[in-house]
Amino acid sequence: MVRKMKSLMLFKSFGISLLNSCKSQSMRVPGVAASRSFTSVLPDQDALPDTHQMLRQTCADFAEKELKPIAYAIDKEHRFPSEQVKMMGDLGLMGINISESHGGAGLDALAYAVAMEEISRGCATAGVIMSAHNSLYLYPLQTWAADNLVDRYITPFLNGTKVGCFALSEPGNGSDAGAASTTARLDGDSWVLNGTKSWITNSYEASATVVFATTDKSLKHKGISAFVVPMPTEGLSLGKKEEKLGIRGSSTANLIFENCRIPKENLLGEAGFGFKIAMSTLDGGRIGIAGQALGIAQAALDCAIAYAADREAFGAPINKLQAIQFKLADMATRIESARLLTWRAARLKDSGQNITKEAAMAKLAASETATKVAHQSMQVLGGMGYVMDMPAERHYRDARITEIYEGTSEVQRLVIAGRLLKEYSA
Ligand SMILES: Cc1cc2nc3c(=O)[nH]c(=O)nc-3n(C[C@H](O)[C@H](O)[C@H](O)COP(=O)(O)OP(=O)(O)OC[C@H]3O[C@@H](n4cnc5c(N)ncnc54)[C@H](O)[C@@H]3O)c2cc1C
Ligand SMILES: *[C@@H]1O[C@H](CO)[C@@H](O)[C@H](O)[C@H]1NC(C)=O
Ligand SMILES: *[C@@H]1O[C@H](CO)[C@@H](O)[C@H](O)[C@H]1NC(C)=O
Ligand SMILES: *[C@@H]1O[C@H](CO)[C@@H](O)[C@H](O)[C@H]1NC(C)=O
Ligand SMILES: *[C@@H]1O[C@H](CO)[C@@H](O)[C@H](O)[C@H]1NC(C)=O
Ligand SMILES: *[C@@H]1O[C@H](CO)[C@@H](O)[C@H](O)[C@H]1NC(C)=O
Repeated sequence: MVRKMKSLMLFKSFGISLLNSCKSQSMRVPGVAASRSFTSVLPDQDALPDTHQMLRQTCADFAEKELKPIAYAIDKEHRFPSEQVKMMGDLGLMGINISESHGGAGLDALAYAVAMEEISRGCATAGVIMSAHNSLYLYPLQTWAADNLVDRYITPFLNGTKVGCFALSEPGNGSDAGAASTTARLDGDSWVLNGTKSWITNSYEASATVVFATTDKSLKHKGISAFVVPMPTEGLSLGKKEEKLGIRGSSTANLIFENCRIPKENLLGEAGFGFKIAMSTLDGGRIGIAGQALGIAQAALDCAIAYAADREAFGAPINKLQAIQFKLADMATRIESARLLTWRAARLKDSGQNITKEAAMAKLAASETATKVAHQSMQVLGGMGYVMDMPAERHYRDARITEIYEGTSEVQRLVIAGRLLKEYSA
């Protein structure tokens, strides 16, 4: 009942945001306007509860109307889609797991996975902005921040006007996050941060960041602590914006801390909790990246099916060719398999279970699916797959990152094998 009301609220705010944005309908992706639209096709729907089906449809409609039309331009211009992020805020998507009493949508991990997929199906850049904000910034705050930080660092971050980021990786260590060398030293009522964080998503637009720094080097990863830092703030500067292969509408840059002073209360949890906070945050984040990967893969399949119906070769539509049909069948099967793993990981999280292995499996399967499916989609389009007139080349570029961030595919395999061997020896 409560759930139902929540999703109706989402519906209502969606109506409003649509009204507001009707006027601004403009840019069209070349070639796409002419091809069929498949976003309204929602595969494997019956495995979802009603609320989640409604949410999925709402996000699919929003993505079709507001995201698909801008995905080409923001990629080309490397432009952050501020207006669309605000609309996502109106929909409740920028605070999806924050309780309604704090102004969030109060939805669960399954809802998050479903929404991430449909948003990313419209635009992968919008997907990464949403995922870094929800699972990497808001989640550790909602779980570990002291109550007096809520008004400043959570409440203003729920309507899409402010975004957050998450700073764990460093230039010298990414996969080996426990080797982080940024320091935090307690000085009176402040922490003083020093060091450089790299690859930080949303950094150019962010109003705050969660950052990991060591408070006791001798303890190695057990000496890492987590903090929240307002942005901009004295002693924190941004490096140059990275020029990326894909998800080019999102910003990625170094955060450079030089004697950056923050209040003592901005520590999350206790000193030394940082590594645990990072790992548990990434467990949930991987469900989001799996959702993003599924959305990109689904968009690539949508594109291939639409193209194959219209394109003729040797006097017949290419979708009559077995070679093409087999590709489409493989693509759809891969996507459905990875989607089931993703929904399973989300459901386990919602039932309070440890999801370290399941989230890694979902992320591994979905990201490898995305890269394979985008590759096949490009092949189905032939030459048109390789040029910017069609979105297939963008899906191909966007898919690739899902095998790298929030743990590379190799790191997911390490995590899965670690758990697996432990289970067998138990
Ligand atoms: C666009 C983008 C956005 C990002 N956003 C963020 C962000 O918001 N916040 C953040 O903190 N980080 C972010 N990252 C960083 C990202 O999480 C790291 O790039 C990733 O974890 C890999 O770390 P690395 O680049 O240092 O690679 P490395 O750790 O140097 O790895 C290099 C290669 O070695 C392999 N490898 C390393 N260790 C092992 C091992 N033990 N066994 C097997 N293989 C191994 C890796 O899989 C990889 O193939 C982002 C990166 C990119 C590109
Ligand atoms: C956030 O997600 C968790 C785990 O999936 C769930 O148990 C919790 O109820 C959600 N919180 C809110 C406020 O909806
Ligand atoms: C978003 O929320 C903040 C703080 O909660 C508020 O100041 C701001 O006016 C809101 N913006 C919109 C567009 O609703
Ligand atoms: C981690 O990377 C930083 C540079 O970003 C480097 O100074 C530090 O020595 C690295 N840590 C380890 C343990 O190698
Ligand atoms: C931080 O680094 C600066 C040099 O950039 C140094 O002068 C200062 O002592 C360092 N502070 C701490 C707290 O480590
Ligand atoms: C889940 O299990 C892993 C592996 O055993 C463990 O490292 C991790 O701390 C657990 N996570 C939680 C949130 O309990």
